Amino acid sequence: MNAALRAVVKAAVARHDIRVTGFLDGFAGLMGDRARPLGFDDVSGIVALGGTLLGASNRDDPFRVPTEQPGGPAYVDRSDAVLATAARHGIEALVVVGGDGSLTIARRLEAKGLAVVGIPKTIDNDVPGTDITLGFDSALTIATEAIDRLHTTAASHHRVMVVEVMGRQAGWIALEAGLAAGGDVVLIPEIPFRYDAVAAGILARARRGRRFSIVVIAEGAPCPGGGTVVRQIVAGSPEPVRLGGVGAVVSHALEALVPFEVRYVVLGHVQRGGSPTPFDRILAARFGAAAVSALAEGGSGVMVALRGSRIERARLADLPSEPRCVDPLGERVAAARDIGTVFGDEPPGAVA
Ligand code: F6P
Repeated sequence: MNAALRAVVKAAVARHDIRVTGFLDGFAGLMGDRARPLGFDDVSGIVALGGTLLGASNRDDPFRVPTEQPGGPAYVDRSDAVLATAARHGIEALVVVGGDGSLTIARRLEAKGLAVVGIPKTIDNDVPGTDITLGFDSALTIATEAIDRLHTTAASHHRVMVVEVMGRQAGWIALEAGLAAGGDVVLIPEIPFRYDAVAAGILARARRGRRFSIVVIAEGAPCPGGGTVVRQIVAGSPEPVRLGGVGAVVSHALEALVPFEVRYVVLGHVQRGGSPTPFDRILAARFGAAAVSALAEGGSGVMVALRGSRIERARLADLPSEPRCVDPLGERVAAARDIGTVFGDEPPGAVA
């Protein structure tokens, strides 16, 4: 986020002589009129810093603000407060950096007359219309490194290590970290799995002399018979369901099925921390510059997007409302299967 913020400010100020105001904590700052001017000096030296100097929030939807009422919580539309704040600051256009929740709010604000350009940013990589979202590569890199390290204990102690990664209902982090780090089993929401098929894969490896396995599981992968494991419901949040815990459930189930000790690790917010990868820093620069160019050309209601190797613009209104998930029949999954990755959907006996 800092790298994107830096790119937007630098491109706006240096290239287009546009004044930039930053709002603190996302839409919360826009509703509450908490702002700070942003110039070259403010964003200098932040390209390697994770997070955002403005603060963030994934709870504040101006179109659905929870208020305490005698009969229980009720929701009010405070989007007019956003427009009023923007008008007070002389804001002509908003750059929204976020995932599908933030970009949906951006689209609704545009419909109310505020010019907006979106920058797709989430580690989940699930925003439709772009091949890759900002942040995904950094999270993927952390997950890959973690799995590399877990191999040490798995191999020397002859254990099954279950690694739970984030991603909500999309299996991108699990699939790609599994591919990158040599995950033996990859369990993702897009491919329902069975315990016996996962165990068969682990046992087949044992027969080949591999007395350990790495199972990479996406937090949104539904457990057979149990469904999605929910860690917490955050009342009032635009996306109230917080996932987490599937790794523990699956590791306990597997313990009864394989002759190895099974341990689990939840990578959690570690995946969202630290310094962004070079790929993400470069993507942030390209997205930020493209977003400012779009605004300078009078564009609005669009999101900058990476398609193939090109930066393009996608109309927010044309984007599907569903998240962009892994294609279970796509080339990446096929390649993973070809190199022996088990997805836990194989019929009994199919795992060699
Ligand atoms: O959407 C990004 C993400 O990190 C998901 O992968 C994860 O499920 C969720 O956010 C966690 O949200 P929070 O930080 O609010 O618990």
